[in-house]
Amino acid sequence: MNDYDIQDFLSGRYKIMYTEAQIEQRVSELAQQISDDYREKLPVLVGVLNGAFMFLSDLAKKLEINCEIDFIKISSYGNSQTSSGQIKLKKDIDCHLEGREVIVVEDIVDSGLSIQYLENKIRSMQPKSLKFVSLFLKEGTAKVPYHIDYVGFKIPNEFVVGYGLDFAQKFRNLPALYILK
Ligand code: IMP
Ligand code: MG
Repeated sequence: MNDYDIQDFLSGRYKIMYTEAQIEQRVSELAQQISDDYREKLPVLVGVLNGAFMFLSDLAKKLEINCEIDFIKISSYGNSQTSSGQIKLKKDIDCHLEGREVIVVEDIVDSGLSIQYLENKIRSMQPKSLKFVSLFLKEGTAKVPYHIDYVGFKIPNEFVVGYGLDFAQKFRNLPALYILK
């Protein structure tokens, strides 16, 4: 395995896909749209751990509506750069979602298998409505059909790290999105 160091990213050795400022701008726009769509409602934001922690935090701070926040933790990647295709539930949702307006908050969609899993799981809890927001979405990599209601950035098929996204659990704390090469 290649030994990457955070300083190599911060020093500009790796290519930035989106800067901190670009991400902040787009997160503001998504927050505006969601605020407009959920006025007078009380949605539950369900963040998908671990990757979505930073996006959920920044998004939630920019919302102009009341919301509740909960988390689910699933994993499919292990320590590799490709999904194993096998979704494991690591921490379940605590909130009672029946009759609620649910917004699942994801960091990135690749094969769509995680979204498919989450949709099946949450639909069975009979929410009043269910929408998905993902900050990033890889184009041309879907293995199953899915629909994301709010997409931050459509990106090419590169393995990216930073802003919550990891490689072997590292680099989640980078403030921008980098291409790992
Ligand atoms: P999917 O199930 O294949 O759509 O993968 C979704 C999950 O895999 C995301 O929520 C991420 O946690 C992770 N993932 C997908 N692509 C990347 C990437 O380029 N870098 C880091 N994590 C990724
Ligand atoms: Mg994720």
